[in-house]
Amino acid sequence: MSKAVTRRQFLIYMAAGIGVTTLTCAGIGAIASRRPIDIQFRKMAINRNPIKPLVLVTYASRAGSTMEIARTIAQELEKRHFIVDICPIKQIDSLEDYSHIIMGSAIRMGSPLPEIIQFINEHQSECSRIPLACFAVHLQHDGENEASRKARLACLDPIRKLLPLQHEVFFTGVYDPDKVSYIERLMGKTMHTPVGDFRNWTAIKDWSQSIF
Ligand SMILES: Cc1cc2nc3c(=O)[nH]c(=O)nc-3n(C[C@H](O)[C@H](O)[C@H](O)COP(=O)(O)O)c2cc1C
Repeated sequence: MSKAVTRRQFLIYMAAGIGVTTLTCAGIGAIASRRPIDIQFRKMAINRNPIKPLVLVTYASRAGSTMEIARTIAQELEKRHFIVDICPIKQIDSLEDYSHIIMGSAIRMGSPLPEIIQFINEHQSECSRIPLACFAVHLQHDGENEASRKARLACLDPIRKLLPLQHEVFFTGVYDPDKVSYIERLMGKTMHTPVGDFRNWTAIKDWSQSIF
């Protein structure tokens, strides 16, 4: 015997269906992208000390290694008694108040990440007024021979076209196939990207102690 569904029951079933679909899609999306959660960024709106220089450490990262390098740089600068804000570049609106900027990007497909280029395009005059250091996190062309050096340096050409870079450095990063999407994994395989954590924390800390 068929049972008539009341309008109320129909609405309840519809709402439950939409809820289940939304949760499923969100879960699959999160698993597919496997993006790390950005570290808590810090911006000091009050208690600024005009005597101490205020440095912005900002970064663009996909799988998290550039973000972790940025965090270490910020900690090292704090040891030098700078006041430091650290923030993903997508969340920066203004460079007002900063005396120095450190900008880092992962290198993908031979270039910095697009949000870095977009940011510099939008804040070109501010960026060229404030002392700026740039770090790139890469895995290929890390040799010391001329060909390797040339290929490595070329990765920052898109930034150099927009800004003169007085301080720039390349740090070897991390490739963990489990932390990237399926497509990125295929790209990593095609490009013979080495798997592992190649970060040289001593070099990162030494650079942080030496700039500015
Ligand atoms: C899809 C993909 C493309 C990459 N392309 C390059 C590249 O062109 N040159 C390079 O030196 N490293 C390349 N790498 C290595 C990354 O620069 C390295 O994994 C870096 O640590 C990523 O930074 P992140 O963890 O902050 O995203 C690539 C990695 C992936 C997954």
